[in-house]
Amino acid sequence: MYEVFVTRKIPEEGLKILEKECKVAVFPMERIPTKAEIIEGARDKEGLLCLLTDTIDAEVMDACPKLRAISTYSAGVNHIDVAHATKKGIIVTNAPSALTETTADLAFGLLLAIARRIPEGDRLMRRREFTGWSPTLLLGTDVHGSTIGIIGAGRIGTAVARRAKGFGMEILYSSRKPNREIEEMGGIKLEVDELVREADFVTLHVPLTPETYHLIDERRIRMMKKTAYLINTARGQCVDEKALVKCLKEGVIAGAALDVYEFEPAVTEELYEMENVVLLPHIGSATTRTRTNMAVMAATQLLKALKGETPEQIVNPEVLEKKS
Ligand code: DGY
Repeated sequence: MYEVFVTRKIPEEGLKILEKECKVAVFPMERIPTKAEIIEGARDKEGLLCLLTDTIDAEVMDACPKLRAISTYSAGVNHIDVAHATKKGIIVTNAPSALTETTADLAFGLLLAIARRIPEGDRLMRRREFTGWSPTLLLGTDVHGSTIGIIGAGRIGTAVARRAKGFGMEILYSSRKPNREIEEMGGIKLEVDELVREADFVTLHVPLTPETYHLIDERRIRMMKKTAYLINTARGQCVDEKALVKCLKEGVIAGAALDVYEFEPAVTEELYEMENVVLLPHIGSATTRTRTNMAVMAATQLLKALKGETPEQIVNPEVLEKKS
């Protein structure tokens, strides 16, 4: 039996997979564990199943000498020091394909919400302020016929492009490599600077890496159209939140719709007061089915790594190459 530590209760379907072949310890509290609690739980374990809220750095790995595999219940791996894991021969896996469509749905939901002022309308109704149809009430921006600028054309960016196509939008995208599927939809590949200038909606779908940290900074926000919106369902640190708030205050862009924050779970206070901002609590992948799929994928990947099989979602294949 392999010994594994799971840093938070995940859907049963995932735990059951592990329990068949492992002795499983789950962090018992309904909150994010501290680093000390992660170390305490994982100290003598071979496997660790973590969440995007857990920082799995060199200190954690060095304190867990038996650790052979880390599987994250997320697509993003920015919370794991993958380079250190690789150096130590620890396999890292993630669960990317499980949440593609669900996250794309939410990105598009945010786009519709900010463009058509849906949360503002909801707030107005709840204040009992609807006094009848008006020619000027809550005028928004058309989604159809507008231009979407998709930064990052991986799985989620491509899924967003499919939705944009269905809504009759012009599609611009930026990515390292050309994306055939997006080009077949009529999408045009641009450099990020050109894309932010042209798009009516700029939406981020890149992983957080040193290259994408503050990818959207004050300079790029100032390049955007005054009528454009920024949507972020990727990682908060891809946007300079202080610069975004400054630019929103100055009316540099029309608004923003955010699911993620630079200093999550903290949110820059001024954002709460802005009507032209939609705020969500990092729920990109939050549907029952997707969270179950993520749990199954994370558990399956961890088990494969522990059993010496090759996990499909390995993030650092160099570890296996070195071993063979
Ligand atoms: C991920 O898995 O990286 C997503 O942010 C979860 O919503």
